[in-house]
Amino acid sequence: MTVGIDKIGFYTSPYFIDMVDLAHARNEDPKKYLIGIGQKKQAVIPPTQDVVTMAANAAQKILSEGDKEKIDLVIFGTETGVDNSKSAAIYVQSLLGISKQARSFEIKQACYGGTAGVQMAVDHIRLHPESKALVLAADIARYGLNTPGEVTQGGGAVAMVISSNPRILEVEDKRSFHSDNIMDFWRPLYRHDAVVDGHYSNSIYADFFQQTWMDYRQKYHRTIDDFRALTFHLPYTKMGLKALRSIIDQSKHPEAILEQFEASRMYNALVGNLYTGSLYLSLISLLSNSEALNQDDLIGLFSYGSGAQGEFYSGRLSDQFDRSQLKTDMDTILSERSRITIEQYQEMYQTFLPLNEEDKLFDVSSDNSCFVLKGRKENRRIYLTKN
Ligand code: HMG
Repeated sequence: MTVGIDKIGFYTSPYFIDMVDLAHARNEDPKKYLIGIGQKKQAVIPPTQDVVTMAANAAQKILSEGDKEKIDLVIFGTETGVDNSKSAAIYVQSLLGISKQARSFEIKQACYGGTAGVQMAVDHIRLHPESKALVLAADIARYGLNTPGEVTQGGGAVAMVISSNPRILEVEDKRSFHSDNIMDFWRPLYRHDAVVDGHYSNSIYADFFQQTWMDYRQKYHRTIDDFRALTFHLPYTKMGLKALRSIIDQSKHPEAILEQFEASRMYNALVGNLYTGSLYLSLISLLSNSEALNQDDLIGLFSYGSGAQGEFYSGRLSDQFDRSQLKTDMDTILSERSRITIEQYQEMYQTFLPLNEEDKLFDVSSDNSCFVLKGRKENRRIYLTKN
């Protein structure tokens, strides 16, 4: 029996800033952002979207009524949680009308939360192949205006249905882990923006990739050339390129591997970091933009979450995978967004629900997403379904 990703959906904000505009506003050479960092555009999340609405918007596009009845596990990976007690998964389950006979909860380990969810769901379906699981990975990446991390912000959500006989990726039971207590990036409860030691975080990411890659190779006697493509958690797309370059001399056909990497970073360069969902946006990007993939091809996935946890695992492309629909949907989402000015972005960036008990309601008329956050009254968040 095969188990893995059967459906995958994506949502991001309808607004973005252009990295050339940001570079000009910050007195930087645009080439630093476009080439040195590898980002072209950045999603800007309006106050009417949070991780609950973004995940619900991503999942709503892929779930059939049959899925909603069969799902008995909803796992929400995020590091932008909206409550210290109640999970974002419960809100999404209710907004989407998923069966109440389900386990729903939230998990956290920085950007690793999406992969933790996928692997837990895969293990669950191996034991219960008749059921389905929904894994949600949603975040808003914030470092602050005028900080070195600003160019690596972004946000959005990926939703995945995990099932037996999957139509996208058959996840193998082959994985390697590495974890350690590291202070490279974290977000204390009293802060909206992350605290980050940027250059240190880059070196820890690179180190965790080496550790998990070598462990995986040794355990499963595989080499880089067994893979058609390697995908990475992409906090910014140059980071993945650096990790790949660190092992590319192990390949007999480096151009082919690098070509697949280019396909896997196209969408991330247009959205920015979405933390837990970033690796899975890269997978979507590869699946949509590579013309070289064939059924049964082996794909490697490197997941990294600061703090820190790394995992390298693998999956095979299903013989039922249909590239054209995914690509059409993705290109539509990304091309229908509106470019906003740096002034508009700065204002949006500073508009959110306050970290105190104050009531606040937003004007949701300009947000045409299916699910929106109206605001908060008497400590209760108010979610609306618009269409
Ligand atoms: P910085 O100090 O502003 O940038 O911060 P820099 O000076 O290091 O330059 C970046 C690159 O641009 C360099 O290339 C420069 O040479 C190049 P590299 O040496 O790295 O190959 N450059 C140029 N290239 C072309 N033309 C030019 C030019 N000028 C310079 N004119 C940093 C960069 C990434 C540190 C910063 O943006 C940051 O702190 N970002 C946030 C942290 C981050 O993303 N870390 C990644 C690893 S940790 C991770 O992935 C986990 C995370 O997702 C969180 C989680 O797990 O929850 C972040």
